Amino acid sequence: MTRKNTIIDCGDFTIRSLVKADADSLSANANDYDIWLNLRDRFPHPYTRKHALEWIDLVGKPGTRENPQVHFVIDVEGEAAGGIGLLMQTDVSRVGGELGYWLGKRFWGRGIMTRAIAGMTDWYFQNLPITRIYALVFDYNQPSARVLEKCGYTLEGRLKKAAIKEGKVIDELLYARVIPD
Ligand SMILES: CC(C)(COP(=O)(O)OP(=O)(O)OC[C@H]1O[C@@H](n2cnc3c(N)ncnc32)[C@H](O)[C@@H]1OP(=O)(O)O)[C@@H](O)C(=O)NCCC(=O)NCCS
Repeated sequence: MTRKNTIIDCGDFTIRSLVKADADSLSANANDYDIWLNLRDRFPHPYTRKHALEWIDLVGKPGTRENPQVHFVIDVEGEAAGGIGLLMQTDVSRVGGELGYWLGKRFWGRGIMTRAIAGMTDWYFQNLPITRIYALVFDYNQPSARVLEKCGYTLEGRLKKAAIKEGKVIDELLYARVIPD
């Protein structure tokens, strides 16, 4: 049965708004060094139930603080298995959003994120006044680069020494998709 707060239904998983009941599975799946190593430092590690509840309070179902709602959970068999969202840009860059995403390790390698990004890219372009979605990938994160390429994102460049993670300065790969002219 499709839940009321479903954004897109991908058959064996859905993308939907977060609800408080997601806190346990969200924190269990997000609490992973190998996930954190590929994300911004503001993604907590260790990731506790308290972090999950704060996140749900911030971006959960309509009526909470995020407006427009752009952050969602990837629901696999009722579990909060991962997350996908857009960081909306401001000022003259407000026609763009930075895509962020992660998936619990147990669910890797099943094509879930490829279908999630493909579906949500279309959804964002259809539902938000934006012309560009981009992602910044740490240069060692080959699976993420591969997923973006499979979803039609173009490698626009290598941002040299643009980030620091775990004390190491690294290059970032800039991938983007824009709406057709
Ligand atoms: C990146 C991530 C989201 C991928 O999710 P996923 O559902 O496993 O991805 P998919 O199964 O859709 O596709 C993975 C692709 O990467 C490929 N891949 C896996 N390991 C790889 C490696 N070491 N080198 C190159 N490609 C690799 C897979 O073969 C597959 O491509 P294919 O379909 O051509 O075979 C997941 O690994 C993750 O959450 N990582 C940690 C957080 C993260 O990196 N977020 C993105 C930050 S930019």
